[in-house]
Amino acid sequence: MHKVLISKEIPAIAENLLKSEGFEVVTLNSDVSLSLVNNSYLKKELANTDAIISLLSDQIDQEFLKHTPKLKVVSNFAVGVNNLDLQSLKAKNILVGHTPGVLTEATAELTLGLLLMTSRSLYRASHDVYLGRWKGFEPMGHLGPSLFGKTFGIFGLGRIGIRLAEILKFGFDGKITTIKRNDQKDQSLLSSVNPKLEIVIKSEEDFLANLDFLILTAPLNEETKHWLNKERLKKLSKHTIVINTGRGELVDQDALLEALLNKDRFAYGTDVTTPEPLDPNHPLLKLPNFNVLPHIGSASIEARTKMAEICARNIISGIKNQKVIHSPIKEQEL
Ligand code: GLV
Repeated sequence: MHKVLISKEIPAIAENLLKSEGFEVVTLNSDVSLSLVNNSYLKKELANTDAIISLLSDQIDQEFLKHTPKLKVVSNFAVGVNNLDLQSLKAKNILVGHTPGVLTEATAELTLGLLLMTSRSLYRASHDVYLGRWKGFEPMGHLGPSLFGKTFGIFGLGRIGIRLAEILKFGFDGKITTIKRNDQKDQSLLSSVNPKLEIVIKSEEDFLANLDFLILTAPLNEETKHWLNKERLKKLSKHTIVINTGRGELVDQDALLEALLNKDRFAYGTDVTTPEPLDPNHPLLKLPNFNVLPHIGSASIEARTKMAEICARNIISGIKNQKVIHSPIKEQEL
């Protein structure tokens, strides 16, 4: 009987599907994470595991793979695969799956939520009520820029970025701009974009200098790591609001802290940080222009259920047909 290890509880559809195909399923409880490879319980489990459903917080690298002699398939419960060492997995002929497409709506919706939360101070305004600071209607309280008619720069026009562009263009009459990314070899998504979106591709200088909102939705890789660095932060105008629903490492967080301390009206809203979770004493959490959510982009019931189903189907197909349904090797865009 093939054994599947699930890194943490995910929607039950995964376990049900796997069991209905005759697989044994073990789900780790929350005090054992895949990073504890020296834990004796985990070591024993890994030694006879055929497939793993991993989380984006699990590092599956060369060191980890020393403990998994029977492993044949890894399916990441995420679309991003920056936590997987794809080369080492390939070298060991281990198939890799992920969950593209099904979290596009959920993540685009959450990005819109963060845009509103950051521009209109939703968290702080709500918090004031809980803290007893709401003294009545304030004509000058919690003022922030509207999204309507503004210029949005999207760094990462994959599935999520394009869906967001539609929401901002058709819902808010936004002007959508972008730049060409060096790592974006596959331009097919971009070329199939609805021309009514009127996306303007700009030079980097022009792009950065003329934005009301900069939105980061790119995948994390060698080219995009710390893309928003000190130099690029300097080129943004003082009023630009930056939103990140890609990965924390797209941004140089130390340079960001400095920019948030020094620029008036500049604000940052993010669903992702470096590291995750962020230390509750981190200096960013003391800043009024820093807004953060705990990596919940895909956390709609619909998306998480589909992600669990795809993970199970990737594994079933990987074991039975030596081919996963969704492989990240070709699909690189979020
Ligand atoms: C979430 O961040 C994902 O990559 O699925």
